[in-house]
Amino acid sequence: MIDVKTKLVGLLGYPLGHSLSPLMQNKAFKLTGLNCLYLPIEAENKDYSELLSGMKKMNFIGFNVTIPGKIDIIQHLDAIHPLAEKIGSVNTVQIENGRMTGYNTDGEGFVSSLTSETRCVISESSFMVLGAGGACRAIAMTLAEREAKKIVIANRTFIKAKALCDEINGCIRDCCIPLALSTEVLAQYMPYINVLINTTNIGLFPNVDNTPIDHKLLRKDLLVADIIYNPIRTRMLIEAEEIGCVTLSGIGMFVNQGVEAFKIWTGIDPPVREMREIVEQFLLNKQ
Ligand code: ATR
Repeated sequence: MIDVKTKLVGLLGYPLGHSLSPLMQNKAFKLTGLNCLYLPIEAENKDYSELLSGMKKMNFIGFNVTIPGKIDIIQHLDAIHPLAEKIGSVNTVQIENGRMTGYNTDGEGFVSSLTSETRCVISESSFMVLGAGGACRAIAMTLAEREAKKIVIANRTFIKAKALCDEINGCIRDCCIPLALSTEVLAQYMPYINVLINTTNIGLFPNVDNTPIDHKLLRKDLLVADIIYNPIRTRMLIEAEEIGCVTLSGIGMFVNQGVEAFKIWTGIDPPVREMREIVEQFLLNKQ
């Protein structure tokens, strides 16, 4: 029941037609009995100043930000969490007494999916991350903070991998090695890593026949993770499963970034299993 006491949580971005966050967060509000409503607000960056001052005057307790605003939102905030500052982008904002504080829950969402769904221990693992875009930044920075042994970042555009590694090595710990995304180069490093993560969009719907890595480079004892969740099982994950690898779909990261955001806005733990179920159900019906 929506009434005068209903607290609002926004989703800012453009376009928002494909976002599953409203479905997932409103389910969590309903199951926890909180009088809150998660509301998509399609907005391009240029609208932010007016929009944010309006939100401060309304019942908003926070919001998510997605493409294209994750970086530009920072200039409008009163405070930023240290990890979000290092990552350089914000996907979650808390509004408290008219003050806006920014967080980035993407990396944490990936790490909590990884550690809750597999036996991976971050500080005992060496990672290879494919890609060097925004998602890779969040994941690699979070892994470095969590004492990952080594993080190899392999990207099509080598200079982007090099710049990101230099940044992480400088601001967190000296643990990153940049590589070019080629089969020959990756082959040399595969024996030294035990977790492979795809953060590129190779394999994303509708290009489901594409894969970022030659399956001949995979081996049975590798943990293979994709951050793509549409399709739920990408070609890379299907080939890894055929070899016998433990695999992790991007659904877990999506759900857990939302779980972390929910905790920031409300201070309570949401029903993770039910949040995942509703997202999974939606995607399965679509496929
Ligand atoms: P996100 O925020 O989801 O990480 P992004 O910042 O646009 O998205 O980053 C996408 C990443 O996927 C980039 O690292 C990109 O490589 P480049 O830096 O060379 O552009 C990578 N990527 C996308 N399409 C690719 C393709 N067809 N082959 C190789 N890498 C690709």
